[in-house]
Amino acid sequence: MLVQKLRQQRDLTDQEFRELLCCENNDEDLKQNADAVRREHYGNKVYLRGLIEFTNYCKNNCYYCGIRRANQKISRYRLTQEEIFSCCEEGYALGFRTFVLQGGEDPYFTDDYICQIVSKIHNQFPDCAITLSIGEKSYESYLAYFQAGAERYLLRHETADPVHYGKLHPAEMSCTNRQKCLFDLKKIGYQVGAGIMVGSPFQTLENIIADLRFLQKLQPQMIGIGPFLPHQDTPFRDESAGDLKLTLRLLSILRLMFPKVLLPATTALGTLHPMGRELGLKAGANVIMPNLSPTSVRKKYMLYDNKICTGEESAQCRSCTERRAAGIGYEVVTDRGDAKDFCKNS
Ligand code: 5AD
Ligand code: FES
Repeated sequence: MLVQKLRQQRDLTDQEFRELLCCENNDEDLKQNADAVRREHYGNKVYLRGLIEFTNYCKNNCYYCGIRRANQKISRYRLTQEEIFSCCEEGYALGFRTFVLQGGEDPYFTDDYICQIVSKIHNQFPDCAITLSIGEKSYESYLAYFQAGAERYLLRHETADPVHYGKLHPAEMSCTNRQKCLFDLKKIGYQVGAGIMVGSPFQTLENIIADLRFLQKLQPQMIGIGPFLPHQDTPFRDESAGDLKLTLRLLSILRLMFPKVLLPATTALGTLHPMGRELGLKAGANVIMPNLSPTSVRKKYMLYDNKICTGEESAQCRSCTERRAAGIGYEVVTDRGDAKDFCKNS
C-alpha cells in the first residue's frame, strides 16, 4: 500500500515515511518497486564515475571524518597536476568518461589552480564530464570552476537538521552555509549531488525525514548515501556503523521519490558488507564510483576504517566493478550518463 503510493505519488506524509523507514515489513516490496522504476528509466545500466582523491589535507574538523585536520596520525599527500592528469589518462583508457576530483578542503589548491587543472582536463578530454567534490566555497569560486569546465559538483548536505549538524561538526561549520552552497551550485547550472551518511551518530528517523524534505526542495541530480563507518582516529571512534538494511531501504525510497536521480552504490556500502554495492544496485542504485587514485596514496584517503579498494590498481577496480555488476545481471556503461538527459523536469 505505502510502497505503491510512494511509487505513484513520489511522496508520502511524514507519518507514512516514518512507517516505511522504521521497520523491515516493506523492504522486499520497496526493493522490487525501486528496481522496476530504475529499469523503466535506465534499464540494467550502471554508470561509472572515476574517483580521483587528489588531496587528503583538510582545514575542517568534522567529527566523523578520518582526514579531519586534527588527525595527526595520517600522512598527508597532494597529487601534482601531472599526477592528476595521468589518473585521467589511465581512466580514459579504461573507458571512464566522468572524472570526480575529490579532496579535503585544502587551501593549497587555490581557485586559480583548480581552474587551471579543470580547464586542462576539459581541453584534453572534451568528451568527459568533470565533477568536483572539494567542499564549501564561495559563489564566485564555484562560478569560476564552472566556467573552467566543471559541470558537476558533489557536496553532501550531511544532515538537514541544524541541531544534528551541530553534533557532527564543530561550531565553525554551519548547516545554513552548507545548504547555501548547494543552492548556489544549482543556480550556477551545475548538476548537483547532495546526500547523507546513514546511521551517523545521533541521527534519528525524524532527521532522515527532514533530509528527504530537503532533497525535495533541492532536487539534486545525484544523491550520495552510504552508511556511517567509524574511524579509529576521530571522536566518533566508538560509535557504531550505520545499518545495512536501513541504507538499502533508504536507497529504494530515494529511487521511488526521484525516479531519474543518479544514485551511487557507494564505497562505504561496499565496506560495510562484502556484497554491499550489489545489494545497493538491486535496491535501486545505478552508479558506481571506482577509484582511480594512484595506489600509492589510496590508504591515506581513509575517511573511515577498513575502506575497500585501497590495495587495488585502477584497472583492477574497473574490471572488478564490471564483474560484480554482470554477476547480478547489470551492465556497466561508459558514457557520461548525464542526469540532465533524464531529469528534464527536476
Ligand atoms: N563514514 C562514512 N562516510 C563518511 N564520509 C566522511 N567520513 C565518513 C565516515 N566516517 C562521507 C561524508 C562526506 C563524503 C565524502 O564521505 O558524507 O561528504
Ligand atoms: Fe575496487 Fe572491486 S571495485 S577491488
